[in-house]
Amino acid sequence: MEQSSQWWRDAVIYQVYPRSFADRDGDGMGDLPGITGRLSALRDLGVDAVWLSPFYPSPQHDAGYDVADYRSVDPRFGTLADADAMIAEAHALDLKVLVDLVPNHTSSAHAWFAAALAAAPGSRERDRYIFRDGRGPGGDEPPNSWRSVFGGPAWERVPDGQWYLHLFDVTQPDLNWADPEVRAEFESVLRFWLDRGVDGFRVDVAHGLIKDRDLVDWHYPSAILGGLGQEGPPPPMWDQEEVHEIYQQWRSVLDTYPGGRILVAEAWVKPAERLARYVRPDEMHQAFNFEYLDTPWSAEPLRKVIEQSLAANDAVGATTTWVLSNHDVVRHATRLGYPVGEARRHGIGVDDPQPDTALGLRRARAATLQMLALPGSAYLYQGEELGLPEHTTMPDEYRQDPAWFRSGHTERGRDGCRVPIPWEADSPSYGFGPSDASWLPQPASWAEYALDRQRGVAGSTYELYRTALRLRRERGLGSAALSWMDAPADVLAFRIGEVTVLTNFSDAAVELPVGGEVLVSSEPLDADGRVPTDVTVWVG
Ligand code: GLC
Repeated sequence: MEQSSQWWRDAVIYQVYPRSFADRDGDGMGDLPGITGRLSALRDLGVDAVWLSPFYPSPQHDAGYDVADYRSVDPRFGTLADADAMIAEAHALDLKVLVDLVPNHTSSAHAWFAAALAAAPGSRERDRYIFRDGRGPGGDEPPNSWRSVFGGPAWERVPDGQWYLHLFDVTQPDLNWADPEVRAEFESVLRFWLDRGVDGFRVDVAHGLIKDRDLVDWHYPSAILGGLGQEGPPPPMWDQEEVHEIYQQWRSVLDTYPGGRILVAEAWVKPAERLARYVRPDEMHQAFNFEYLDTPWSAEPLRKVIEQSLAANDAVGATTTWVLSNHDVVRHATRLGYPVGEARRHGIGVDDPQPDTALGLRRARAATLQMLALPGSAYLYQGEELGLPEHTTMPDEYRQDPAWFRSGHTERGRDGCRVPIPWEADSPSYGFGPSDASWLPQPASWAEYALDRQRGVAGSTYELYRTALRLRRERGLGSAALSWMDAPADVLAFRIGEVTVLTNFSDAAVELPVGGEVLVSSEPLDADGRVPTDVTVWVG
């Protein structure tokens, strides 16, 4: 394959969360025309591509990850013509477009599920999903012990007594990937969007499609959104060997299209060698490195995860895909404002311990500057370029994440990272839309994060991202080789191409690496020209 069609190997891809990016019609919910109108801002920022979370028809029980029709657009977000216009505008701006594919489950509002409910046990209609008889007297007990990722049992009983599996919300029945019709349908969905010109797919829950044949019991928490700390024997619902055949098949479909169309795996899998199996030469192109996202703010653990990820991906000829924030995790500007080594929180509410916001932002800037110097590709989540924190004091009555409800109100969930982003400090809804409406409330303190307060302002987080993205491109950092340098304790230093990158995790300022000019620094150096605590610097 020629080099130019391997654009993903070092690309920086910006995640747009359609509900919260830009609202054209003023109903408080973002939409496709809103996104189209703001794409040039992403061109200015300097990213290579955008990935859009789902915008398909959906009852929105899981913010669109419950898809009722894979070939259309939810009227809340616009029309298919709006999707075409968005793709065309992105391409005119030289931005690639990835869309989200949700193959593990449909919405319970999908025509297939309605047909399954209307049909009898043992029917072809039921076989597209995972229906089973229950256990115990009268089949009153669920078929096995599995728990939903969002809390509660993973099985729901239907009126005729059978149960269906839902690893997520009860409105998200899991598909049966042993069924040839399910496979054929998703190939056709891939082609539908490829024919419309998309450059690839982010594949939701890519490690979950195949379940253990016997659905054996499993008594451990379903570690996914909460992190990768899997206990016990290999889980029977994640990372099963046969899942790879599906991606080999999809790859052969993508390869018939010109221009380097890609698949990126959302697979909460570790260790790095297991994850790298998803990006073997005949499978996907990228897989989010969530182990990196979950690593504490500390030199040695970060060095280890970087080293192991690069080695594991190198062994299969893939590059590594770095990420610090997305729509499922507490934003890194907030995460890093908690004591180092604490378990990652699954949402934050007003009565939870609050983060140190200034420390979080300082470390987030240093973390991003480190990430953008690493070889491979990187994903940014909308708003992180503004230094946006999580909304950590959202009143609970606004919450919509099914995890909040299914956990019996013990996990605040993900609404805090999904709040509509601020564009203009002095406009209604901070310029998110033409009105004050916003589907989740925006904190009163967000004017200071607005793009128009940061654009052109030296030292702002926005200008830091822009500078880093420009230098990364100019110096070819994404495709250069990394070598570690000797450094004092609690300091991480590496060479990447002609650039030296140093992050100081220690309590005291450290000397700059010898020679060279400071290209960019996450905070100013101290009066003696040394690198302060929690700062990353690029020297070239
Ligand atoms: C993925 C999505 C998440 C969604 C879940 C179920 O983890 O990123 O937002 O809730 O899958 O589709």
